[in-house]
Amino acid sequence: MQKHLLKLLDYSREDIVEILNLADQLKYEQKNGIPHSFSKGKTLAMIFEKNSTRTRVSFETGIFQLGGHGIFLSSDASQMGRGEPIADTARTLARYCDCIMIRTFAHETAEELARWSDIPVINGLTDRYHPCQVLADLMTIREHKTYLEGLKLCYIGDGNNMANSLIVGGLKCGLDVSVACPEGYAPHPEVLDFAATVTDAAFTLTTDPKLAAADADVIVTDVWASMGHEEEARDRNRAFQGYQLNDELMALTAPGCMVQHCLPAKRRQEITAEVFEAHAGEIFDEAENRLHAQKAVMVRLMSG
Ligand code: CP
Ligand code: NVA
Repeated sequence: MQKHLLKLLDYSREDIVEILNLADQLKYEQKNGIPHSFSKGKTLAMIFEKNSTRTRVSFETGIFQLGGHGIFLSSDASQMGRGEPIADTARTLARYCDCIMIRTFAHETAEELARWSDIPVINGLTDRYHPCQVLADLMTIREHKTYLEGLKLCYIGDGNNMANSLIVGGLKCGLDVSVACPEGYAPHPEVLDFAATVTDAAFTLTTDPKLAAADADVIVTDVWASMGHEEEARDRNRAFQGYQLNDELMALTAPGCMVQHCLPAKRRQEITAEVFEAHAGEIFDEAENRLHAQKAVMVRLMSG
């Protein structure tokens, strides 16, 4: 197992499956009042340079349920907001805490933090990747479908952090992955390079949402304008017309197709209210599974 969780590209299929299995076990223990076997008193520092509901609450609840404690650090209320270097922040936090979670803009910031940190660093979302979310998505898909290998996973929309992590996580776990993005909004080149090396799973990238959605077992979408891209919203609304998850697109998918959305969701943009509500059970299972998947990550990384 790696020291940090920055991107799923660094993890093997076996690492990912091990985390998913542990997440299932921790979920079972929590639901049945069985104490977790994890050493108590660990502290997680949580750095947030962007807004969050799920990531903050699931990490803070998760470390508490593991017998530890979470500390919320917003960039503007800490010395980071006044320009203290990441290298100094990493070396300071490592003297007090057992693990750091960071949500930031440039992926390189998370990498830099990890480079200087003696304690594990978990990526709670960067502009390029959202690995914890995709672990929760894979856990949810496996819960509902009972297996992963050979399923067709389709992503419709912006080639953003979610798309990047889903492509990597999906292909590593043996799913076929089809992605539809408008011209100019393709996934990151590092991810496309990885996808090109995977021979035992099919990857397709198209600008045609109908082609991507055909016979999908799971369909995923995300906002058209991610955090930090709000000022591009008008251009993006135009570019993403036709990339909405609606009844017409759902009709092309395989029977029993699941819908996943990391949330927050914008109805009337990337997903209709009808599709969202018809699949709300799966979507909120996905939100819940952030808690269990991240507890598994913390247990693995903090157990050395
Ligand atoms: N999906 C997700 O990361 O949600 P938050 O932005 O609320 O943390
Ligand atoms: N792509 C979205 C995900 C939010 C959880 C964003 O980065 O804003």
